[in-house]
Amino acid sequence: MSVLITNIGELVTNQPERDADPDPGRAGPVAGRRAADAAHEVPGPGGPGRFAAMAGAALVIDEGRVAWTGPASRAPAADEMVDADGRAVLPGFVDSHAHLVFAGERGAEFAARMAGQPYRAGGIRTTVAATRSATDDQLRANLRRLAAEMLAQGITTFECKSGYGLTVPDEARSVSIAAEFTPEVTYLGAHVVPPEFEANPGGYVDLVCGEMLDACAPDAQWVDVFCERGAFGRDEAAAVLAAGQAAGLRPRVHANQLTAGPGVQLAVEVGAASADHCSNLTDADVDALAGSDTVATLLPGVEFSTRHPYPDGRRLVDAGATVALATDCNPGSCFSSSMPLCIALGVREMHLTTQESVWAATAGGARALRRTDVGHLGTGARADLIMIDGPSHAYLAYRPGVPLIAGVWRAGERVA
Ligand code: NIG
Ligand code: FE
Repeated sequence: MSVLITNIGELVTNQPERDADPDPGRAGPVAGRRAADAAHEVPGPGGPGRFAAMAGAALVIDEGRVAWTGPASRAPAADEMVDADGRAVLPGFVDSHAHLVFAGERGAEFAARMAGQPYRAGGIRTTVAATRSATDDQLRANLRRLAAEMLAQGITTFECKSGYGLTVPDEARSVSIAAEFTPEVTYLGAHVVPPEFEANPGGYVDLVCGEMLDACAPDAQWVDVFCERGAFGRDEAAAVLAAGQAAGLRPRVHANQLTAGPGVQLAVEVGAASADHCSNLTDADVDALAGSDTVATLLPGVEFSTRHPYPDGRRLVDAGATVALATDCNPGSCFSSSMPLCIALGVREMHLTTQESVWAATAGGARALRRTDVGHLGTGARADLIMIDGPSHAYLAYRPGVPLIAGVWRAGERVA
């Protein structure tokens, strides 16, 4: 069944190329993005990707895909019609970094940070203990609740990491439960060295690269490592990524979160899809990202929740790096699943324009997951889209903290 969403105040497509429209009377390639539409295109961050939007637009969904976009006045007929009444429609958010398989919570740790304590990677072990004690059903129920929370807030694609089990069976069940909810599953056995390996970190790296990897690889697409002082050094991280790649997983890296360490350079060297956090960057790091296909994924909710200074997103964009925004939803460094919050912080604290920030939370996230079917609303894209209570994308930053998500479609089905 086809659905026409018409009367869209601003339709963000992230698809700047102008397709010809030989027959505007029926669904087909995009109609006439001509002079007026070109005016809405602004330079987007990084590489060929660009924010692009149309005013006074309509969109047709058919068989779970975007079948047509163009001026509302030329919209074809469809089986069902939704009147957007001047509201904006955007691609669903693509959250390329989240840790959702865990038990317990760390509200007291957050409160202590706000009272002056620094964030420490060691807090991860608190969640590891709670996760090991939880049943599969408890972990599954927590993840189901968080996935629903994300969807209601417009996240239609999310990545999910393991990393709070840190034993072979606990990591294996973490990736297996994550795979029930998303195709974007990341093996993060190398999150921290667990207490029982404190005296033998090398032995833990061997486990992560051996038996644990063998148990997790069938349910995962990605391998990640927390490359940081207090977690894993450069050589250990390189070994984890190499082993993961040999097992068919693609690399991504927690890089330069707490210190300007070797993580970003390593991510670029191994061709990682993404270097995440990027909170402490040298000029050489920025140059390396700009000269590579590795996406710089910024996680502003972490800076918010740890009182860490925000990295300069403007510097990355101006250098030519591709930037994504993600939530990093986890019980320690940022217990928020709100992409609108990330967009607002991307604008206010990381100096992205509203267009760049929205692009980073949609097309940027898709780049970080190497997905071409989501993050944009070009013809043929998966019909993952959101309608917001406001006439333009800018409202996501202009009205911070206000619940603006008025409708969510995933693969063409209205789900919120
Ligand atoms: O991305 N940095 C490493 N991992 C998480 C934090 C996890 C935690 O504190 O529980 C992050 O911020
Ligand atoms: Fe993380």
